[in-house]
Amino acid sequence: MEALYKIMENMDIKYIDYPVASGKESVVFRAIMKNRAVAIKIFKISTIKFSTLDIYIQGDRRFEKERRDRSTRVTLWCRKEFTNLQAMREVGISAPIPYGHYQNVLVMQYLGTASRPAPQIKNYNGQMKRMFDLLMDDLRKMYQKAGLVHADLSEYNVLVYRNKPYIIDVGQMVDIGHPSAELFLKRDILNIVNFFRKKGIECKEEQIYRYIKGESIEPGN
Ligand SMILES: Nc1ncnc2c1ncn2[C@@H]1O[C@H](COP(=O)(O)OP(=O)(O)OP(=O)(O)O)[C@@H](O)[C@H]1O
Ligand SMILES: [Mg+2]
Repeated sequence: MEALYKIMENMDIKYIDYPVASGKESVVFRAIMKNRAVAIKIFKISTIKFSTLDIYIQGDRRFEKERRDRSTRVTLWCRKEFTNLQAMREVGISAPIPYGHYQNVLVMQYLGTASRPAPQIKNYNGQMKRMFDLLMDDLRKMYQKAGLVHADLSEYNVLVYRNKPYIIDVGQMVDIGHPSAELFLKRDILNIVNFFRKKGIECKEEQIYRYIKGESIEPGN
């Protein structure tokens, strides 16, 4: 409550509108900051599994030297999501604009309308080929330009907003030098291929892998 109060005061957040989602690891609210809608993501401290977090922190050159006692870990995780969003935005990937963070609270661009949040791509039934192509472009940029791998990519962590796929939930994202980066990349690709195949898009893991790594100029046929 103290962290929430502080960030609301510092960032001029007028009010919290409604809860958007609540899961094991976080709660997300829509709120109004000055005249724009923002998403406030609060990381749950008591249920977060530190052993899981450490897999993504150790081996990431950007964060592994940080102190790792209980209270700083969640703060680090929150800052990591903020930094990752910044890095994605810098190379032109569609992701929420990060506005600020404090302790376990992250403030970012709200994706959606006044009445409802943008749907997860899982629940979207529109131009799938367009979504696939745009997502491939962003994943390639993520690897090539930002040097990052999402590491928890699935149809749950892509929202469709203004007819574009937006990549969210990037606390666990690692740099490509992380010892498991390749493994995470392959897992991400497998999730995405399984999803798009179900939606009738023909695609192959191997080809997408080469596309993302810059070894092929086409992600699919
Ligand atoms: N910027 C945003 N704008 C609108 N909705 C959002 C935004 N960020 C997250 N959400 C909604 O909140 C949900 C949970 O967010 P996110 O995936 O970042 O958290 P999580 O760590 O996966 O939490 P959980 O433990 O609940 O799965 C998303 O699936 C999405 O529906
Ligand atoms: Mg998620």
